[in-house]
Amino acid sequence: MHCRKCERAAVINMRHHKLSLCGEHYGEWFVAQTDRAIEKYKMFTREEPVLVAVSGGKDSLSLWDALLRLGYRADGLYIGLGINDPAPYSDVSLEKTRAFIESGGWRVAKNPPHDELEIASSQTPLLAMTHQPVLHVVDIEQTYGKAIPQIAREKARGQGKPCAACGLTKRYVMNRLALDKGYAVLATGHNLDDEVAVLMQNTLRWQTGYLARQAPVLPASREGLTRKVKPFCRFYERETATYALVRGIDYIYDECPHAVGNLTNFYKTLLNQLETQSPGAKLSFYLEFLRARGEGAFEQFNKVDTLHACEVCGQPTSAPGRCAFCRMWDIEKLDVAVV
Ligand code: AMP
Ligand code: FES
Ligand code: ZN
Ligand code: ZN
Repeated sequence: MHCRKCERAAVINMRHHKLSLCGEHYGEWFVAQTDRAIEKYKMFTREEPVLVAVSGGKDSLSLWDALLRLGYRADGLYIGLGINDPAPYSDVSLEKTRAFIESGGWRVAKNPPHDELEIASSQTPLLAMTHQPVLHVVDIEQTYGKAIPQIAREKARGQGKPCAACGLTKRYVMNRLALDKGYAVLATGHNLDDEVAVLMQNTLRWQTGYLARQAPVLPASREGLTRKVKPFCRFYERETATYALVRGIDYIYDECPHAVGNLTNFYKTLLNQLETQSPGAKLSFYLEFLRARGEGAFEQFNKVDTLHACEVCGQPTSAPGRCAFCRMWDIEKLDVAVV
């Protein structure tokens, strides 16, 4: 199969877009699509500092790479969870993240754009390649005294699986570091497959409150909360993996050992079967949901809870007293700094 734009062999065929592209043209297309999503959903501008949560996986490293190439002021945050048993998952993912930023590969336009205008679209890349990206690393064990598996065992959150303790800790650290360091927005590498799996879980249980809040952009609805964005929410997982490949980004292939066999992965398998039978099904499920949501289908469920400031750390929390994070980590006075 040939590239739509040149004579070279295609590296990817996207049936849902009826589009096959070679490595060079795919890299251009992917970056341009990323910029289009950022503009369409009004995620952030080139003037705003962006904090990218990087896990060392293909999605978040590709996101950081694409944002830097587009001239955004993107820095990274890696959270060391201390998940190194049975395999050194956290150690290897930090190594890959460090190697990515230290190699300076993101500076190299492996696929020099033929058409700058197409990539830049309406936003002039004023700061293109002038931003010197910083990687923030927060090691949970060094900061809070215990790694995630240990705190999860002690607190028995999540019936033997540390995922609940891990999710709570990651969300807290991401939000707090973004605020403390003055970032306008926090970007994560969630892709279409991630979003559709969550959408399906929420739909099967008609969790209308969650549906009301599932979006490419979550505004900073109140003080103490950072705006959160997912610029890759319209890319299939296969597409972010192909981008990492054509850009030569080395990432951690393994997923967290605790995620193996979880419910989200079960839904991903089901949705892949659906996609095989009906190419484009995932994309249209998601886009039609966003359309309905945009028309206000879930507006009435978007309850604005009264939030209180945590009496220890000051972060917003739904009940008066200490927030869930400070309770889980037994923090009674603010003597731990995230940064
Ligand atoms: P996951 O929940 O593992 O599917 O990850 C979803 C997104 O969360 C990733 O694309 C990253 O943006 C972010 N993320 C996950 N793990 C980490 C981590 N250890 N440090 C920083 N960001 C992370
Ligand atoms: Fe947190 Fe797996 S990444 S438990
Ligand atoms: Zn081509
Ligand atoms: Zn707190």
